[in-house]
Amino acid sequence: MASGGMRQRSKGLIDMPTLKPLPPRDELMERIRASGSGDFDHFGYPVREDGLYLQQDPAEFADFVSYMATHAQPAELSLDIGVAGGGQTVFLRDYYGCATTITVDLGAHPDAHHWKRIKQSMNSQHLLEIIDDSHAPRVREQLMPFKGRIDFAFVDGDHSYRGLRKDIFMVRELLKPSALMALHDTVEVPDCKRVHNEMLRSEIFEHVEDFNSKFGISLWRLKQPVNSTWLNRIGGIGRL
Ligand SMILES: C[S@@+](CC[C@H](N)C(=O)[O-])C[C@H]1O[C@@H](n2cnc3c(N)ncnc32)[C@H](O)[C@@H]1O
Repeated sequence: MASGGMRQRSKGLIDMPTLKPLPPRDELMERIRASGSGDFDHFGYPVREDGLYLQQDPAEFADFVSYMATHAQPAELSLDIGVAGGGQTVFLRDYYGCATTITVDLGAHPDAHHWKRIKQSMNSQHLLEIIDDSHAPRVREQLMPFKGRIDFAFVDGDHSYRGLRKDIFMVRELLKPSALMALHDTVEVPDCKRVHNEMLRSEIFEHVEDFNSKFGISLWRLKQPVNSTWLNRIGGIGRL
């Protein structure tokens, strides 16, 4: 369990972390670049040995972080599927209040070994860490105690069409009504883009915003939690 930052009481029962003041967009983009990427060629800013190994585009990630900091209710319970080195998970939580965080990742990404160090600076209580396949029934079992209770989820794990759909089918059981879900790579990765297009026709999620300057981050609000079926879970099949 890792936690960082000073804490203050929220209106609820859980302590909310103290956040960094949100700087202007240019400064936030600079902080993202200064945190270091996972790959200079792909992300366009240098890797820093002691950095966050971010897999994010500075412009769209800055816009997303700003949006969450200024428009979204702080999260008592948050979930990240697809963490890699954990840069995005950690950076966001300096500006957007997440009292507790659950992470799920296979642990097989080339930058995964940095997570052990990077998570020490996460400004959130690390409630549960699952190093496993998000589609495995045993993972769903571990997450079911949080059913209908999660305020915010960032989904950046399996980028295949069926794989992303399976994650969404699971996440929509876990989120509370009106909770937010972000999807990454909804512009750059054709399968994620296809899912994004289907999500636009969803009657369960409403489209909140797209942050698109390179890879694409899209934000959705769940109307009501929906139980997943066997077909949803095993095949990623069904209406989103
Ligand atoms: C693009 S990276 C995440 C990057 C991270 N969100 C960031 O911005 O720094 C995708 C991650 O998803 C993980 N992943 C892929 N398929 C998965 C699955 N089925 N279950 C859990 N994690 C998965 C990979 O191990 C990898 O760490």
